[in-house]
Amino acid sequence: MRLLALVAAAVLAAATPESALAQDARRGAELAAQSCVACHGENGRSQTEDIPSLAGQPADFITLQMILFREGIRQVPPMNDFAANMPDRDIEDLAAFFASLRPGPPEDRRARDAALFAAGQALIGPRNCGVCHVADFGGRAQIPRIAAQREEFLARSMIEYREGRRAGADTQMNGAVVGLSNADIAAIAHYLAQQD
Ligand code: HEC
Ligand code: HEC
Repeated sequence: MRLLALVAAAVLAAATPESALAQDARRGAELAAQSCVACHGENGRSQTEDIPSLAGQPADFITLQMILFREGIRQVPPMNDFAANMPDRDIEDLAAFFASLRPGPPEDRRARDAALFAAGQALIGPRNCGVCHVADFGGRAQIPRIAAQREEFLARSMIEYREGRRAGADTQMNGAVVGLSNADIAAIAHYLAQQD
């Protein structure tokens, strides 16, 4: 709890208008070229299985996740190493850069499966995913864009929330996926990955 309070304080500090003005997407682009795009994609669209795209993610979401990685709350070994000791300014500039990129599907997105797409669509409405993630699933503030994200990453994230293996800043997502089977999750992931 104490750690989460610290994270909340850090995120609030990072989100003040003064620091928003200091955000420098050009400086972020230079940092990203050195240490992020090899994995997350030149244009922020990941071409690598299991690595998420970052293009068009809300800057606050990227900032928050980098702080969760830096503080070791969200445990993903490569990212914990990259975020270790990273100054707030670097995190904010990287977030501004990736947020500024045009979102879209990865080049290797698989073709639409009409039955799976329809099953995902039917499941997602009653779960109110769009209430938080916004109607077009583009995300806002600390809630991520999930439209056109890599399908296998979406599915794995939902399973990790369901099983309590992925920690966020709060437990909203753990509640959102309660009771979904792996097949339900596969359908939802396919539906979301097909969005633009
Ligand atoms: C060696 C490959 C690699 C490099 C380099 C890398 N990342 Fe990552 N990143 C990953 C993986 C893998 C994940 C997925 C974590 C998971 O399993 O949930 C990830 C996740 C993330 C996430 C969370 C996104 C989401 O949708 O949940 C952010 C933000 C992020 N990385 C930012 C960065 C930044 C900024 C850099 C450069 C400083 C960077 N990454 C460098 C592999 C990498
Ligand atoms: C009450 C608000 C809320 C609802 C409803 C909700 N989400 Fe989320 N979702 C969030 C938040 C907040 C996060 C980021 C949590 C974190 O820090 O890990 C998130 C994260 C995610 C992620 C991880 C994406 C990434 O890039 O790391 C996926 C996938 C996701 N949600 C899918 C869904 C789906 C599908 C539904 C409906 C079944 C849903 N969400 C409903 C708030 C919500």
